[in-house]
Amino acid sequence: MEGKFNPEFTELSPRVAELSKLFAGRDETVKVGPEGWTYLKAMKTRVNEYLNFEVEKSDVFVNSFPKSGTTWTQELVWTMRNNPNLDNPSSKLPLTIRAPPLGREIAVDHYMEAYPEYAQKILENYPAYDQSCGLWVYALKKVSRPRTIKTHLPFCFLPPTLLEKGKVVYLIRDPRDVCISYHHHARLFAHMEYMGTFDQYIDAFIEDAVLWGPYWPHVRQAWSRRDHPNVHIIFYERLRKNRKEEITKVNNFLNTKLTDEQIEKVIQYTSFEEMKIREEHSRPQDLVDQNWADKEGGFFRRGEAGGWKNVLTQDQKNKFEAWIEKNCPDMEIMQNILNA
Ligand code: A3P
Repeated sequence: MEGKFNPEFTELSPRVAELSKLFAGRDETVKVGPEGWTYLKAMKTRVNEYLNFEVEKSDVFVNSFPKSGTTWTQELVWTMRNNPNLDNPSSKLPLTIRAPPLGREIAVDHYMEAYPEYAQKILENYPAYDQSCGLWVYALKKVSRPRTIKTHLPFCFLPPTLLEKGKVVYLIRDPRDVCISYHHHARLFAHMEYMGTFDQYIDAFIEDAVLWGPYWPHVRQAWSRRDHPNVHIIFYERLRKNRKEEITKVNNFLNTKLTDEQIEKVIQYTSFEEMKIREEHSRPQDLVDQNWADKEGGFFRRGEAGGWKNVLTQDQKNKFEAWIEKNCPDMEIMQNILNA
């Protein structure tokens, strides 16, 4: 496993600075740590809040690189723990309020100012917020227990004692599908204002200019902990292909004791189609580029595995192939994805 983590901030390389400019709506981009993690500058004020976040024994973290199926798993885990009979009235609250995101400050701090109506809607749920810590760290202090915590922070930015108390469900998805989905996200959400081409987006993805990257070190930090009893890895592709089997594994891992009948209901409830209908109503539409959404779909775009085979050109496939070969820490990861 990694040695002691040094969250030292460094200069952007000229190439990353150039690629970052393609995201016109982004706040200043920063690089941190020996892996060169990419975040917004709010990370400078927040990093210690995340590293010192107080983990509780009943905490379950749903952890992933963005676009790996986080929302799906977040709903799955929250429902298994709090709503196995699908009769809990709290399930009507937006997922972000029920299972708040640790680390979201570094992606949204600047647009809370730019989109006051959105900020207002969130703050209605946390009326006593006094700004002494990040809004989402505050939300996590207040949210009812047991907590299901979403986070895109890699292990190195999470408290070193995390696994002594909490459990982590970590998602892995084929990085080619992640990249396509992330590009869609960058066009869909107006605050990102991605202005480049898809080709340039692939460059930004594999050259570590997208937020929360780099991809492989993120995955590696979870993969290297895969045998820890408090870590459970889910492959998006496997979850799609064999929900019953994968959800049964989660049931055992979390000790949620759902019956077969309850699992069947949860499978239905968290299906792409049902989540799409429920969730799209609760998302702040003022943040969405409606022209793009009409053409390409909303947050719940396709929900497919292996869509990249039909989307990427041969050149793009070759570029990814070389990048995977050079950077994937263990080819067993790709085998799990491709043989799902
Ligand atoms: P696509 O853009 O490929 O459709 P995240 O939640 O990590 O941002 O991931 C979003 C991706 O997960 C999107 O992928 C989205 O459609 C997909 N997704 C969300 N809910 C899903 C579900 N219930 N089943 C399958 N895929 C789902």
